[in-house]
Formats: sequence, structure tokens, C-alpha cells
Amino acid sequence: MKIAVIGTGYVGLVQGVIMSEFGSEVICVDKSDEKIEKLKKGELPIYEPGLLELLHKNQKAKRISFTTDTEEAVKNSEVIFIAVGTPASEDGSADLSALLNVATEIGTYIDSYKVIVNKSTVPVGTGRKVISVIEEQIKHRNENIEFDVVSNPEFLREGKAVGDCLRPNRIVIGTDSEKAREIMAKVYNVLYINATPFLFTNLETAEMIKYASNAFLAVKISFINEIALLAEKVGANTQEIARGMGMDGRISPKFLHCGPGYGGSCFPKDTKAIVEIGKEYGEDMFVISAAIAANEKQKKKMVEKIKNAVGNLSGKVIGVLGLSFKPDTDDMREAPSIDILEGLIKEGAKIQAYCPEGIKEALWRLQDYEESIIYCADEYSIANGADAIVLMTEWNQFRGMDLNKLKKRMRDNYYFDLRNINIKNEKIRQYFKYYPTGEKYVERA
Ligand code: UDX
Repeated sequence: MKIAVIGTGYVGLVQGVIMSEFGSEVICVDKSDEKIEKLKKGELPIYEPGLLELLHKNQKAKRISFTTDTEEAVKNSEVIFIAVGTPASEDGSADLSALLNVATEIGTYIDSYKVIVNKSTVPVGTGRKVISVIEEQIKHRNENIEFDVVSNPEFLREGKAVGDCLRPNRIVIGTDSEKAREIMAKVYNVLYINATPFLFTNLETAEMIKYASNAFLAVKISFINEIALLAEKVGANTQEIARGMGMDGRISPKFLHCGPGYGGSCFPKDTKAIVEIGKEYGEDMFVISAAIAANEKQKKKMVEKIKNAVGNLSGKVIGVLGLSFKPDTDDMREAPSIDILEGLIKEGAKIQAYCPEGIKEALWRLQDYEESIIYCADEYSIANGADAIVLMTEWNQFRGMDLNKLKKRMRDNYYFDLRNINIKNEKIRQYFKYYPTGEKYVERA
């Protein structure tokens, strides 16, 4: 099958590479010359485990190609995936300009029946908008070409994108057209010979499933974070609370890990967007709004906790392990580290930070604070002369660190484990004044 993918961000690139891996002839399009040139040379614009190898393999087999020419891609494909960004506008609603531009281009170049698949996360009703934009362009040319629009939301997680795309937990296909359904089933049947469940819905339902799923997960995280704040005060253990709650199959233990608050490219943006959609339709989304507020509070609480323990932070040196919003990604979008570092620096702290992949992006996202941050070359250097360590992101390489080596380099020995990676390591409480998240501090070190 000949498939075009417009937009080579996380979603588009992973989808394109995987479809080529399974034998489709894929042409990936992006407006950015720089990105396309890089990709043509076999270089990835993002860091995503496992993706580079698959890209090289399929480039060699000539199943995947890259271009900035949308016309060529549209004309040569039966199915066109749109996977451009829908960033949050000032007011929190999704900015659809890139997506509607692509729809206009498709309408301009379409020359025979095609299925246009929307993979970007978009407000309910966008699929219909895409239909009318394309129709308008076709009418403008006095032609009569049939096409269908499908909403096929993407549920992949960064850092696990290749695996998620290869083994999705469900495929949602939203369209009113029987013909488009059959074609989409064909596109995915080649990919998933296993028992991946398919859910066929109308356009609006598929669009809502994506927002509802992300908002629900964000609520779940904010919920356990709120429980964790209380647990620390009453002397309860949040890990065990989550385990106990999770034993009820209706709740499940997944996504019940307390931490510094959720970040990334999806939860912050999609929760705000669904609240805006609610406003547009006259519905207050109380639960989701509360989750957003709780997430902001959570980040502030982390700074407060460090300050309360260490005391006046002026002139204090804080070593930070991890900056990206989660491990195995270089993505710093909405990473809790941004607000937390900002908070610590405003209290007068100096930061020494290390992140396996996040530093490049941190350099510009935190440029206003460059005088207060030193980026270190390795994970032990952050401890040099430090008063406290803050473990921000649970990269695996931070799990087995030599605690003695770390402590010896420090001036004082506070360790704030915002992700609880060391909570079961008894030794850590001997070396450090160890502050887990969601559990009362116990004096030992
Ligand atoms: C998420 C969804 O999981 C995915 O299905 C959707 O398509 C896009 O958004 P992603 O943003 O890549 O994926 O990351 P995810 O692993 O879900 O983590 C999101 C944030 O929540 C991270 O900051 C993570 O640290 C935080 N988190 C997650 C918690 O704080 N606690 C948890 O229990 C789980």
C-alpha cells in the first residue's frame, strides 16, 4: 500500500517508520527542509529508543522516503496520514493552523479517491472541518473527487513509542464511511496480525476518546499526588496505598505513581484543550480543571518541601538528576523540572544538573536562569560540593548509583527522591537524609 505521512514529529515519524517496516511504501512529508535533509541522511530529529535502527533498515530497503513536496506525496498515495502538531494556543485551546493548512494542501492536490487519516490530537469537530476545507478546495477547481476523513488517534508514549506502535492496546478508527473503514482495516491488519482490538466509531467519538483517555490519566496522576501530600502528613505510605488501591481491578495499580507532577507534550496540553472545548459548549469541566490545578500545586509543593527541609536556599547548591519530563526521551516540554528549578533558583539556590538526553533542550528552555545552572557531564558531578540532591526523572542509570561515591562529594547530605526510585534501598537512608515522595521523612542519616 502507498501511504503518505504529513508531519515528521514523534507521531508521524514513528507511524511512518513502522508502516514501512511492515511492507508499505511510505513517503514522509515535512515543511522543514532541515528536518527532511537530516532524515534523508538517516538522522533522527528526536531521540527515541529503537527508531534509528528501523529507519536505517527501511531506508536501505527503499520502503520509506522523505520530501518537502506535499503535492508529490498526496498524488502518489492511497492513504494520507496527517500527523502535524496541534500546540496549545495562549488560551489553552488547540492551535489547528498547521492541520488546516495541510487540509488545504490536500484539497489542492488530491486527484483521486483517498482516505485522509487524522492522527493529530484535535478538538471534537475538527474532522468535519477538515472535510469541509478539502471539499472547498475541490469545488474551487470545479472537480468532483471523492475522499473520506478518518480520526485515528495515537496513544503512544514517548520513550516507548516503537513498542507502543508495534503492539498498541487498541486501534480506534472513527469514520462514517464503510469504504474508509475497510481500507483502514487493511492498513492495520498488515501491521497487527496479533489480537489488537479494533474499535470503529464515528468521527466525533474517536476524537473524544483521545482527549478523554489523556484527561483521565492526568486525573489519575493528580489524584495520587494529592493523596501523597496528605499521606506525608498523616504518616501513611503512598506506595502501599497505591498497591492497596490497585488490587481493586476497577482501579488498577498502573499510573498511580506519585511524583513531581505530570509533564510532556500530551497531558498538560490535552487537559487544557478539553477544558476549552467544554467552555465552548457551555460545560465546566470541573474534574479535569481540578487535575490541572493540582498538577501546578504539586510542582510548587516540591520546592516548598526542599526549602522546608534544607532551610534558607540562598547560596545552597542543589544537584539535579534528570531533567526530561520522563526517562528515555530528550523531550523537555512541560517537564516539571522547569518549574521546580525555577522555584529553587528564585529561592537563591545554585543548580548542578545532569540528564542523559535533556540538556540540549534545557539549555534554551531554562535560558533565563543560565547563570544559576551548571550542566554536568555525568551523574556524579552534580554532587560536587552540593547540599542536596533532587532526583527529578527516573532514568535507569540513576537507579544503581554508587551512594558512597555520591555522598563523599557533597557538602551536606539531603536526597529528595521525587520519583521514589530508591525507596526500597535501605542503604540510602544510612547515607542520606532521604526524603521520598508521599511518605513522611524518617530521621536516620
Ligand atoms: C501520554 C500517554 O501515556 C499516551 O497514551 C498519549 O498518547 C500521550 O501522552 P507520554 O506523554 O509520552 O504519553 O508519557 P507518559 O508515560 O504517559 O507520562 C506522562 C507524564 O506523567 C510524565 O511526566 C510521567 O512522569 C507522569 N506520570 C506517569 C506520573 O507522574 N505518574 C504515573 O504513575 C505515570
